[in-house]
Amino acid sequence: MTEKATLTIDDRSYEFDMFTGAENERCIDITHLRKETGCITMDPGYGNTGSCYSSITYVDGAKGILRYRGYPIEELAQKAGFVEVCYLILHGELPTARQLADFRAEIAGHAALHENLKIHFSGLPHSAPPMALLSAMLNLVSCFHPEVLEVVAEGEEFERTAALLLSKVRTIAAFSYRMAYGKPFIHPNPNLSYCANFLHMMFSEPYQEYVASPVIEKALNLFLVLHADHEQNCSTSTVRVVGSSRANLFSSVSAGVSALWGPLHGGANAAVIKMLEEIKSSGQPIDHYLDMAKDKNNNVRLMGFGHRVYKNFDPRSVILKKRVYEVLDELQQEDPLLDIALELEEKTLKDDYFVSRNLYPNVDFYSGILLRAIGIPINMYTVMFAIGRMPGWIANWRELLEHKQRISRPRQIYTGSTTREFVELRDRG
Ligand code: ACO
Repeated sequence: MTEKATLTIDDRSYEFDMFTGAENERCIDITHLRKETGCITMDPGYGNTGSCYSSITYVDGAKGILRYRGYPIEELAQKAGFVEVCYLILHGELPTARQLADFRAEIAGHAALHENLKIHFSGLPHSAPPMALLSAMLNLVSCFHPEVLEVVAEGEEFERTAALLLSKVRTIAAFSYRMAYGKPFIHPNPNLSYCANFLHMMFSEPYQEYVASPVIEKALNLFLVLHADHEQNCSTSTVRVVGSSRANLFSSVSAGVSALWGPLHGGANAAVIKMLEEIKSSGQPIDHYLDMAKDKNNNVRLMGFGHRVYKNFDPRSVILKKRVYEVLDELQQEDPLLDIALELEEKTLKDDYFVSRNLYPNVDFYSGILLRAIGIPINMYTVMFAIGRMPGWIANWRELLEHKQRISRPRQIYTGSTTREFVELRDRG
């Protein structure tokens, strides 16, 4: 028997179906609410609004649980590579050795950029923000591969488009870094792993091959795995909203890149490092910065803290914190920003402002320190996030089409002027 929820408005009761998800999360299906009651719901920021049924990723914010297709993030972070996780997220199952090899080969085969696409990099100033470039270039790919304009969510065509995107995003990201530093582009090497190939395109020089150390390759791999999907966050919802108009995959994820860019979302990883550097160079005690973050009269927030869903801890942050120590140790590096970060975290855990609002380090808090250790410059941090999030965006885009989701079109409550007479220009004083 279907569970029902009853809503009473003006003494009249209405019944709505309820639905329980695989992990016992419950929802009230209000699809017919407006038709039946004439009312809409109001939920700015969508904190209580489900926009889809999804079988990709499960997050339990209270318990700090994150699973891709049922597999705990802790286990995937330890045992799986990024490409393997991409396959899992896209297909719902872990690949066999054969499937993984084929998928790797397919991705490797699409790494090069069309010569005419490369030309567009040279028209931009070296100071061009890599996120602007990434978003624009992803859209431009369809000019050179018109087949990706087809909105296809199944079969070989989809498999090819998905692999093409996972591959091109990595090359575009590396080339935007090379362009910013006035360096020649380094061609992809199909014999390298996904991460090693990216590092090669970033850091090799024409006559000096960069060979990624296993520590660095592993750290990058971990970073990407931890970012691979995170259910209906700002950027993924954006991809779904854009995709709901049946826009093609590349333009949908290009919009996702733009949504990710903001400092309240993916842009936070760079903002964290800027904040830690600011604290360091200011010479002021950390308490001073905490006071600023607590003061509602300014716009300062403690970057890398807080999360819409996680209210006790972000499991990705716990994994990253542990790994940052190991990576710095293995690379025999020290980072003074790590000490500041640790002190900041320790102080917030004892501070009523942060405790009462459930503000804990999120994925972005320690990820910048890991990327610094790998040698990634700060303006590339959010681009790195975008590379990692690509499988999640692709899987959500595909799922939306499979479910034949209606075009996204929220309602509003109008609060402006009611109808009034037009005043001629000459009479306006
Ligand atoms: N520093 C100081 N105060 C904060 C912070 C913070 N980082 N985050 C939230 N608060 C306060 C708010 O001022 C508010 O206080 P109030 O109740 O007294 O008005 C309360 O905590 C609730 O904050 P909201 O903004 O309503 O929380 P919301 O769920 O909308 O926002 C967000 C979540 C955007 C992540 C927020 O915590 C934030 O801005 N954090 C800093 C930026 C950041 O790290 N973003 C990355 C998130 S993870 C990701 O996107 C990958």
